[in-house]
Amino acid sequence: MAEATNSSGTIVLLSGPNLNLLGTREPGIYGTATLDDHVALARSTAEAHGFELTHAQHNHEGALVEAVHAARGVSVGIVINPGAFTHYAWALHDALAAYEPPVVELHLSNPATRESFRHLSVVAPVASGTIAGFGGAGYRLAVEALVSLLEAEGA
Ligand code: DQA
Repeated sequence: MAEATNSSGTIVLLSGPNLNLLGTREPGIYGTATLDDHVALARSTAEAHGFELTHAQHNHEGALVEAVHAARGVSVGIVINPGAFTHYAWALHDALAAYEPPVVELHLSNPATRESFRHLSVVAPVASGTIAGFGGAGYRLAVEALVSLLEAEGA
C-alpha cells in the first residue's frame, strides 16, 4: 500500500541546455548561483506550500520532450526554463501543449531586452505565464505563480 502523504502533489521543474553550467556560465548575465542553488530555492518554495518538487536538466531537446511526457498524469504542473530551446524548439512546444496542467515559463534574464533571436518564445503560447528577468528569485516567483494558479483552480 502506498504511504499516506500530506503533499498536494508534485511540481516538475525542468531545465534546458547549458543551465548545468550556471555559476560559471556568463555570470554577468546569469549570476553566480548554481543550478543546484536555484533548484533548492524552488523546492523549498514548493514545500512551504505543501507540494513536492522534482527536477531534471537536459541538454538534448528529445530528452526534455520525454521529461514532459513523463510528467503527464503524475504531476500538478511544470515550471520550465527551456534555455535556448525557448526560441525554436517546436517539439517541446507540442509536448507542453499535450500536457494538461498549468505550465510556467521561467528565465533568469529578460530575453525581451536581449538579442532579437531571443524575442520569440515558442513556449509562451503553451504556458499560463512567464517569469523573466528577476535572476534567481525567479525560481521562487515561478513556483509561487504556479501554486497560485493551482489554488485558484481549487487543487
Ligand atoms: C535563458 C534565456 C535564453 O535566451 C538562453 O538561451 C538561456 C537562458 C534564461 O534563463 O535567461 O539559456 O533561458
